[in-house]
Amino acid sequence: MRKPTNWPEEIARALITESQLKGRVRELARKIEHDFTGRDLVVVSLLNGTVMFLADLLRHLSLPMRLDFIGVSSYREGAESRELIFTKELRLNVRGRDVLLVDDILDTGTTLKRVLAKLRELKPRRVKVCVLLEKKARRVERVRADYVGFSIPDLFVVGYGLDFAERHRNLPFVGVLRPQYYRIG
Ligand code: IMP
Ligand code: MG
Repeated sequence: MRKPTNWPEEIARALITESQLKGRVRELARKIEHDFTGRDLVVVSLLNGTVMFLADLLRHLSLPMRLDFIGVSSYREGAESRELIFTKELRLNVRGRDVLLVDDILDTGTTLKRVLAKLRELKPRRVKVCVLLEKKARRVERVRADYVGFSIPDLFVVGYGLDFAERHRNLPFVGVLRPQYYRIG
């Protein structure tokens, strides 16, 4: 993919193009539809990184569903995983329900482990996890996703909802951030 001149300077290259995203998200939606047919699904999405992925996924999901969000944030801005705080609690009752938990990226697994523990206290019938991206190399916690868009190498990526210090979420593709912009400490 040629690099258009209006890309932000911090982006080295595209890792996953718009058309690759489009095709893969459609495939994930088909699998999810198949697995949840006949269920009254509750989709629980993590703010804010899932914004674009979620919107694209949902428009391809034709089954009865409700949508809610959990807000998770961390104290420090930047590329390292850190202490989590909940900024928005779930409002829908998921007791006895089928839940699809959606996140942008499974990295160390800390976020999903914490969120899954919290969700399971609410006694859903089952919880399946869907992530756009996963970095297998950095896994610390024993968490696995049932639906994975793309497995990616250990690079810091932004775009299609993913941020670095809240920036670059609006890029329509997944791009690699130049390391000089996220090296901290
Ligand atoms: P984990 O808790 O280490 O699994 O990290 C998950 C969260 O860290 C994701 O929901 C993202 O918000 C963030 N994250 C991890 N890797 C990246 C990345 O490469 N780009 C942007 N955000 C990332
Ligand atoms: Mg994030």
